[in-house]
Amino acid sequence: MSKHSVGSNPRVTVQTLRAMTSRSERIAMVTAYDATFARMLDEGGADILLVGDSLGMVVQGQETTLPVTIDEMLYHCRAVARGSKHAHLVGDMPFMSYQVSPEEALRSAGRFLSEGGMHAVKLEGGLDMAATIRRIVSVGIPVMGHVGLTPQSVHAMGGFRVQGKSEEDAQRVLSDARAVADAGAYALVLEGIPSELASRITSELAIPTIGIGAGPHCDGHVLVCYDLLGLTAERVPRFVKQYEQFYQRGSAAMARYKQELQAGDFPVAEHSFGPIPERSTPSTQGFHAGGEGEHEPVRG
Ligand code: KIV
Repeated sequence: MSKHSVGSNPRVTVQTLRAMTSRSERIAMVTAYDATFARMLDEGGADILLVGDSLGMVVQGQETTLPVTIDEMLYHCRAVARGSKHAHLVGDMPFMSYQVSPEEALRSAGRFLSEGGMHAVKLEGGLDMAATIRRIVSVGIPVMGHVGLTPQSVHAMGGFRVQGKSEEDAQRVLSDARAVADAGAYALVLEGIPSELASRITSELAIPTIGIGAGPHCDGHVLVCYDLLGLTAERVPRFVKQYEQFYQRGSAAMARYKQELQAGDFPVAEHSFGPIPERSTPSTQGFHAGGEGEHEPVRG
C-alpha cells in the first residue's frame, strides 16, 4: 500500500475531483475546523474538507469573516489535517492575506501547505484576482476560486446579498468565473447567485463548480458543517438543509447530565475506579486513588 493511500480509500486529489466531474459524480464538500469534526465528516465520505474562514462566525462568534487572521486559520488547518485521512483539504485564505500583492499572496498560500497541512487554498474574487491566482498556481499550489457572494466583500456588497440578479450583474459574475478558470484555478465556488446563472457557468467552464446558494446544477455542493449538523442557535438561511439537530440535542444532553449529577445518578460505580466509599463529610474529603481500578487506563 502506498503511503499516500488509506486501505481501499485513497486520498481525494485534484485529479479525483476532475474525474468525478467528467463522470457527472457530484462532489460533496463541507467545512471543518477541528480534528474530531474532520474525522467524523471524513468517515461520512466528504470529498473535500474546507477549513473555511466562516470559522470566524461559527467558532469565534464574530459578525463577519473579516477579523480572522492567517495564524488562526493555520491553527485550525493543522487540527483538521490531523483528523482527516481521505478528503482533499482546502485552506481558506483570510481577509488581507492575499489582496495586497501576488507575491504576498504566494507567501501566504505556501504557509497553508507547509504549515497547515492543506492540499490547496481558496480565495475570493474574480477578474481582480486573476494575476494572483496565476502566480500561486505557477509554483504548483492548487487554487480554488470563489465568486458571486464573496463574504470578505460584505461591506462593498451592502450585506450578505445574492449577486448576479440583474443581467448586468450576471455578466459581471460570469466574467469573474471565466477569469478565475482562465487563470488556472482547478475548481470554483459559486456562492449566492441565481440557479440559472450557476447552471450557465457550470456548463461553460471545464473546471468543477461547487455551489452554495447557487441551485442544483453545480458539479458539487458545499455546506458549513454547523449548518449541516444543526449546530447553530439562529434560524438558518434558505439555501441550508440541516441533516441533524445537534444544537437542541446538545443542550438537552447537558440538561440531562446536570439533572443526573444533582440527583446522584451520575457518576456511579460503573464510572468510578475502586470501591465507592460512604459519602464523606467536608472535613474528610480528598482524592484517594487505589483499589481494583488502580492500574486501569483512565481513557481508551
Ligand atoms: O468560509 C467558508 O465556509 C466558505 C464556504 C461557505 C464556501 O467560504
